[in-house]
Amino acid sequence: MQLNDYLNQLENLQNVHPVLIEMERYGKSLNFPILNRLSARLVSIISLMNKAEYVFEIGSGFGYSAMWISIYNDYLKEIHLTDYMFQNLEMATEFFRIAGLENKLRTHLGDGISILESMNMEFDLILNDAEKTQYLRVLEVVKKKLKVGGIFISDNALWHQKVLKEDENDKETLTIREFNRKIFSDKSFISSLVPIGDGIIVSIKVM
Ligand SMILES: C[S@@+](CC[C@H](N)C(=O)[O-])C[C@H]1O[C@@H](n2cnc3c(N)ncnc32)[C@H](O)[C@@H]1O
Repeated sequence: MQLNDYLNQLENLQNVHPVLIEMERYGKSLNFPILNRLSARLVSIISLMNKAEYVFEIGSGFGYSAMWISIYNDYLKEIHLTDYMFQNLEMATEFFRIAGLENKLRTHLGDGISILESMNMEFDLILNDAEKTQYLRVLEVVKKKLKVGGIFISDNALWHQKVLKEDENDKETLTIREFNRKIFSDKSFISSLVPIGDGIIVSIKVM
């Protein structure tokens, strides 16, 4: 058995909220890229462990990862979702309404990095699932908008394993490689790359 099959087999022993199952079905029907469920579960646990009250996501799609962050975390006060596409945020709003969490939801249409930069507050948890070529800009802005003790999570840190291959040098791969190197060298963060899904970097801001 492959490692991933074993991890999924264990994951499947756990309950999943019906709205998350519905969202997975919706994503599949549109072939819409969403967080791998193993990664989403980890993000969800971290949100609860951190007792995150104020959360921001760059690149929310129709809200699947945001729902995982919200649905098991009763400490949550506000979760800010961003996307370029109005239809995605509209679907996210509908799913949050179904889950009874619409009072915690704030949606912003446009570039999530600029929106985060313009926010007059700091966050307990920031999730980054932006376009991969934007990751270095994300890091600059997140450093200013995350509380000390706050958590920064970035998806696609392995970028389909391309970061491992020296002959893969497209713009996305080069940026993710540089992003990974930068965040691990940054003394403001303590980081760990967890090789589940497409690789997820979990960082805590320590200064
Ligand atoms: C991989 S999908 C997001 C999936 C979502 N995080 C989830 O797991 O459910 C990426 C989404 O981010 C949006 N996006 C990418 N870069 C963005 C940015 N800088 N600002 C706002 N939205 C962005 C895209 O429009 C797309 O809907």
